[in-house]
Amino acid sequence: CLLTDKIDGEVMDSFGPQLKIIANMAVGFDNVDTQEAKKRGIMIANTPGVLTNTVAEHTFALMLSIAHRIPEADKFTRAGKYENWAPMLMLGNDLSGKTLGVVGLGRIGSRVAHHAARGFEMKVLYYDINRNEEFEKEFGAVYMPLDDVLKQSDFISIHVPLLDSTRHLINPEKLKLMKPTAYLVNTSRGPIVDEAALADALKNNVIRGAALDVFEFEPKITPELLTLDNVILTPHIASATEETRSNMSALAANNIIEGLEGRTPPNLLKN
Ligand code: GLV
Repeated sequence: CLLTDKIDGEVMDSFGPQLKIIANMAVGFDNVDTQEAKKRGIMIANTPGVLTNTVAEHTFALMLSIAHRIPEADKFTRAGKYENWAPMLMLGNDLSGKTLGVVGLGRIGSRVAHHAARGFEMKVLYYDINRNEEFEKEFGAVYMPLDDVLKQSDFISIHVPLLDSTRHLINPEKLKLMKPTAYLVNTSRGPIVDEAALADALKNNVIRGAALDVFEFEPKITPELLTLDNVILTPHIASATEETRSNMSALAANNIIEGLEGRTPPNLLKN
């Protein structure tokens, strides 16, 4: 199934007792009710690993695009408005030398932190429920409570799964902690950010900009966001490269084959 398919107990029952495995073609599996699956002895598998680098690349594509104002500049150029080179035309911001706050240092978050530290010489701060001292040593990353990460970062990138504890993790109070010059990037799950509060914050310059690949009420988007120039919106395509989508579908298929042939699917969730 896809991440847009909500698989609850009722859906599971509609398949009858022959339902053995739910193979999500996504790494996130918040669309599947894991407790209901466990009660029925149904296996769940996801597609971790193969999309890590692609999502990290998309995160950087978004970060670079918002900081260098690429969509705005493209619109401006196509509209025939480029008449003179000017020292102050469409000023953006550098990534290099800035501080990146990574919220959630899992597979994708740590890949983003790797690119930031190695590729852009950014200082990396991070928050996670677990500290990773080995990672800190390797990349000079600094572990901090969430509020401090939000206060001190120039770019904030969200990489936590959607859980009860992460829903609206970024709310009006958290947005107020961020620097007025900060950029927020979300490639994880929409409901982690209170989208109405973010639209308000962008409109009132509480933060400088945002780039979102995921939305709270996907595929619906808070209409106000569509009117703002300081936000970039992509339609949940962070893993959408030919290479990665092909690997994800092969992995999902393989999970199904292994599960149905009585072996352990390689990406079985321990729920
Ligand atoms: C995409 O959002 C995924 O979870 O794979």
